[in-house]
Amino acid sequence: MSKIKLGNAAQFVALLLLALGTIFVVGLMVEEQPVHALPEYAARTGEACGTCHVNPGGGGPRTMAGLLWAANGRPDEMPDLTVPIAPGETDGQELYDIACASCHGLAGEGLFGPAITGSNLKERKISSTILRGRERSGMPAYEGRLTDEQFEALVAYTVGIASGEIEPPPNTYPLPPGKLGCEPTPDGPSRCGGN
Ligand code: HEC
Ligand code: HEC
Repeated sequence: MSKIKLGNAAQFVALLLLALGTIFVVGLMVEEQPVHALPEYAARTGEACGTCHVNPGGGGPRTMAGLLWAANGRPDEMPDLTVPIAPGETDGQELYDIACASCHGLAGEGLFGPAITGSNLKERKISSTILRGRERSGMPAYEGRLTDEQFEALVAYTVGIASGEIEPPPNTYPLPPGKLGCEPTPDGPSRCGGN
């Protein structure tokens, strides 16, 4: 008799613990849902937290892509932020000045990036380097940022300066020495300039 009673009591306690445990776990799940709902954006877009958050772990201020994405109504796809480099420009030398000169020098003489002028680099290497870049050493990839026409003009110009067939513009311009608009007088300084 007492054995059965003990058994019943133990069963009752076990059931009670199970019920309390279930309530606790369900409570936790319900409470934590709002937090987990935010990284859901990562799963939905297939993007890392750092694509939308300045803090790569998530939270905090948003990146430009993240702000644009939210403003677009949070679609499943990220907005394409690949920006064309020089819309409307089709001259190879101009394109080089805009996109490449800051690293390879105005005359292709080399600055942060290696010299191109006189390097004899072949067309294949030049076009694949422009398209794919060399991420690790700091050469950007230009795929998607140039129209076909711009790409061809840029490659032709770059191949031209590499082989020496095209003479790049000088990277410095001699200027005549500056002139003062007035002469000092024997009695002291004269008034110069606009004042
Ligand atoms: C596609 C863009 C996107 C991605 C990817 C993304 N988030 Fe968010 N996240 C947002 C936006 C937008 C908000 C602002 C709240 C809202 O609009 O619902 C936000 C809000 C948050 C918040 C609330 C605090 C705050 O800053 O507003 C946290 C925490 C958070 N995200 C964490 C993460 C984590 C962790 C990841 C990666 C696992 C992640 N997010 C991935 C866009 C994103
Ligand atoms: C932000 C700086 C930067 C810009 C902008 C840049 N480059 Fe580069 N480029 C580099 C660096 C650094 C390397 C060296 C990469 C290496 O050797 O791994 C390189 C390598 C190259 C090479 C290969 C050179 C070799 O000897 O193998 C070519 C060709 C080239 N760049 C062309 C261009 C052209 C054309 C543009 C403009 C569309 C351009 N680059 C814009 C930094 C830059």
